[in-house]
Amino acid sequence: MEKREQLYEGKAKKVFATDDPNAYIVSYKDDATAFNGQKKGTIAEKGIINNKVSNHLMKMLEENGIPTHLIRELSDRETLVKKVTIVPLEVIVRNIAAGSLSKRLGLPEGKKLAKTVLEYSYKDDELGDPMINDYHVFAMELATPEELKTIADYAFKINDLLAAYLKDLGIELIDFKLEFGKTPDGRIILADEISPDTCRFWDSKTGEKLDKDRFRRDMGGVEGAYHEVMRRLLGE
Ligand code: C5P
Repeated sequence: MEKREQLYEGKAKKVFATDDPNAYIVSYKDDATAFNGQKKGTIAEKGIINNKVSNHLMKMLEENGIPTHLIRELSDRETLVKKVTIVPLEVIVRNIAAGSLSKRLGLPEGKKLAKTVLEYSYKDDELGDPMINDYHVFAMELATPEELKTIADYAFKINDLLAAYLKDLGIELIDFKLEFGKTPDGRIILADEISPDTCRFWDSKTGEKLDKDRFRRDMGGVEGAYHEVMRRLLGE
């Protein structure tokens, strides 16, 4: 596998072409941003942890019937993934009120939601990723009704699989963000990452935050929390 030119650099990852027209290399960085890039910093070894944690969880999901972009881990920070066109939606699933939902609706953080909430945001940095509904998705032709149904069905199934898997490791899955991609032959598959950057993980017993909120809220212990998640998932 030969690494070719850089195609894209995002806030937390770089994407490179390869000599395989159907595969990209994703390289995870230690850079951390929050509030749409207004807060910037680095979290030591975050790139390594997110690469390994995301691959571990995607492998578990794949084994349970969710198609993902994962091909194979190449190194501590690099993974070979299937080439997709990203559907420009942030797909957010919430089990317990926290973050922007708590702020928007005045719900206390930690309140169990009577029903799982699914939200979509339009992926656009300049607009600040505004929340939209399925009518907006179809009006802007971001996905077809059939594609959005597949995305929603996968999102709920991923929630069930992840929540059960993490519960056994003493982690409560509060909420998380997913991104999906479209393969050249038109299939919807899970893309991007699943990591402490993109999920809220709380220790089941103590309620301690084990995710990026420690960075967003200047709580300290950021590296320790990321390492703890890796240790529980991979035993490393
Ligand atoms: O900020 P908010 O409460 O809407 O975030 C919900 C979930 O989505 C959190 O787990 C957060 O980490 C994730 N998220 C993300 N990337 C964004 C926005 C939210 O990973 N741009």
